[in-house]
Amino acid sequence: MRILVIGNGGREHAIIAKLAQSSRVTKIYCAPGNAGTAQLAENVAIGVSDQEKLAQFAIEQSIDLTVVGPEVPLLEGMVDRFEELNLAIFGPSKAAATIEGSKTFAKEMMQKYNIPTSKYQVFTDSKEALAYVRNEGAPIVIKADGLAAGKGVVVAQTLAEAELAIIESMDKKVFGDAGNQVVIEECLFGQEVSLMAFVEGKNVAPMVISQDHKAVFDGDKGPNTGGMGTYSPVPQIADEIIQQAIDTIIYPMVDAFGQEGIYYKGVLYAGLMITEDGPKVIEFNARFGDPETQVVLPRLKTDLVDVLLAVAEGRLSELEIQWSDQAAVCVVMTSPGYPGSYPNGLEIHFPEQVGQHTIVIHAGTKEQDGKIVTAGGRVLGVTSLGTSIEESQQRAYETVKQIKFDGAHYRKDIASKAIQ
Ligand code: AMP
Ligand code: GLY
Repeated sequence: MRILVIGNGGREHAIIAKLAQSSRVTKIYCAPGNAGTAQLAENVAIGVSDQEKLAQFAIEQSIDLTVVGPEVPLLEGMVDRFEELNLAIFGPSKAAATIEGSKTFAKEMMQKYNIPTSKYQVFTDSKEALAYVRNEGAPIVIKADGLAAGKGVVVAQTLAEAELAIIESMDKKVFGDAGNQVVIEECLFGQEVSLMAFVEGKNVAPMVISQDHKAVFDGDKGPNTGGMGTYSPVPQIADEIIQQAIDTIIYPMVDAFGQEGIYYKGVLYAGLMITEDGPKVIEFNARFGDPETQVVLPRLKTDLVDVLLAVAEGRLSELEIQWSDQAAVCVVMTSPGYPGSYPNGLEIHFPEQVGQHTIVIHAGTKEQDGKIVTAGGRVLGVTSLGTSIEESQQRAYETVKQIKFDGAHYRKDIASKAIQ
């Protein structure tokens, strides 16, 4: 099998690391990739939005399966285009991916099909939005409707913060057109859990759960990021609660797509808050989470190629997917200043060797003059496996401490909620 993975983040490196373990895989390409994917795949210098060039490449290189990592190409209709050309591809169509691309669409679907989520209102006029928050008070959550790389959400603790978020998104347009419309939501309290499932039509295979750490600093302080680290399993969340989430959120959502005439194929990711009233949806994504993938895929025992092909070819119901009992922890290392502005091109120094249970997943890295340098906000994610979360956590931090670049930042408390 010849596989093309589209993307250049940690998620794509983690997908490739798993694919590389499959005896069915003969060659992996990554477009455009990073310095880590280059170690296992051949990087191809085509951007994720260059649909026609990517399709051309897939045809010329006789690619058997293309796997789309990020949301942007999904929302640009990459899957629709490949399927027009009869090219096998893993990921949802543009229409299906709208569940991630428009928070308003996602909220309307949840409301229509009674899927538990927070109370909300949608605004296109900033004066009305301001009047609404002044009436509701804080804490309250302000979300840019469109894609904003995980940064379009402000959980405002004070009214002043809420007002500022509205003005920045709607009047100052810091997210461009993605913030012209905002969704304002009731603030939910509880622990967050990421629940991803392989979905094909009405067939669903839930993955093991994980927990991300969105805030940039220890103790969940500071602004939100794309994700500072993850672990799986999440032992403090009871199995019954997860089953409840699968039954009241994942299946009804898959059913809702069916009723709306939308064929969903790929990964459906539900970001959940486990509240006192049970699990509620914070957001849906139409792809693998990043850095959730870094801890979930290492626990997959079934050949990933078999799973992806079963989804792409509409045979998911025939497959029994197996997961290991091992624990995985991923600690993300970021550039200084992230999620604000940060420098690129800082040389990264790696230890000679890392333990056999650890893998250094690259995100924002590239090779420059024979050196590996930083090339993004989230630079690396060190993932370790172990028999317990404590063991995996200890192994991951052991390696993190040996990786050096100027101003490297990481949280020191990834997975600590599971251990306390
Ligand atoms: P989102 O991009 O919608 O996943 O939001 C990013 C992060 O903001 C989430 O992971 C939560 O930590 C936080 N968040 C979003 N919506 C809410 C909400 N309604 N209540 C509390 N926190 C939220
Ligand atoms: N880690 C959150 C996401 O992938 O959206």
